[in-house]
Amino acid sequence: MLRLDKFERYPLTFGPTPIEHLPRLTAALGGKVQIYAKRDDCNSGLAMGGNKLRKLEYIVPDAIASNADTLVSIGGVQSNHTRMVAATAAKIGMKCVVIQESWVPHEDAVYDRVGNILMTRLMGADSRIVEDGFDIGIRKSWEDAIQSVKDAGGKPYGIPAGASVHKYGGLGYVGFAEEVRAQEKQMGIKFDYIIVCVVTGSTQAGMIVGFADDNRADRVIGIDASGTPAQTRTQVREIVDNTAELVELGRKVRDDEIVIIEDYAYPAYGVPSAETNDAIRLAARTEAMITDPVYEGKSMQGMIDLVKKGHFPEGSKVLYAHLGGAPAINGYSYTYRNG
Ligand SMILES: Cc1ncc(COP(=O)(O)O)c(C=O)c1O
Repeated sequence: MLRLDKFERYPLTFGPTPIEHLPRLTAALGGKVQIYAKRDDCNSGLAMGGNKLRKLEYIVPDAIASNADTLVSIGGVQSNHTRMVAATAAKIGMKCVVIQESWVPHEDAVYDRVGNILMTRLMGADSRIVEDGFDIGIRKSWEDAIQSVKDAGGKPYGIPAGASVHKYGGLGYVGFAEEVRAQEKQMGIKFDYIIVCVVTGSTQAGMIVGFADDNRADRVIGIDASGTPAQTRTQVREIVDNTAELVELGRKVRDDEIVIIEDYAYPAYGVPSAETNDAIRLAARTEAMITDPVYEGKSMQGMIDLVKKGHFPEGSKVLYAHLGGAPAINGYSYTYRNG
């Protein structure tokens, strides 16, 4: 039994997220593998929700205890994470500074005005666009922002990109695994594989630790969307080790239990391939399930390709973890101008 209960959780979500069968997507992919989705994209009333809120639920108590008055975080211009930090700050009555790095080359003139960044600004965050390119690591621009809050007499609380390398960043998705186990009991089924998009790493890392408890960590298939998979893998490894110790897993997770497939991130982070766009259209047209060109579209593409290639034995039940991210499609209006 994992010791998640010893950590304080500040509720930001509605509670357990629904799992639904996707019959039309299942049929479109040949019907030999049953596809389900766990809808973490519908997990909260806070600014359209998404995976970061599960992580932030375990980080907020630490932020409050530190007596901070300002959350400081970082992501790309169309970052879901900075939207979720801005939402959390508004909800708990703190100020918010977010650095938005120029992670993605874009075609839309309004890319820095719509979707995630629009909502981030609407919630009162001080959103600062900088020129630096994509990198999931600790960034000087973020450290400078923390310092700027101090210089102005404020008390900052730093949350790194994706809330991932924060000491409690992996806990939320340990909870996801426990939730899936409880739902499997209720539903009378067991999932053979879980598909998850991975970039900064704590979503998959938390799941790995959570599912290691019943020895199926290697059934969590991470689909890399970073395009820098070596760095992502290293980060996942570190978060797995830290999180396993926190929740007292009682053993080391082996390297072969960390499964990350690198084949779908091309051509680059935040840039969809033709195959990513086909996957986004298929999910939208069969299940009205909206995925985005940065994250979920790539994990959707990965799942579709793996099903088509016969990677999953016939009769398998595959659970697609939908982590959110749909607001970013507003920054890709040129790409989807004809659907
Ligand atoms: C919608 C969405 N999916 C997937 C991810 C990847 O999760 P992680 O950064 O924890 O690997 C993110 C954030 O980076 C995201 O916003």
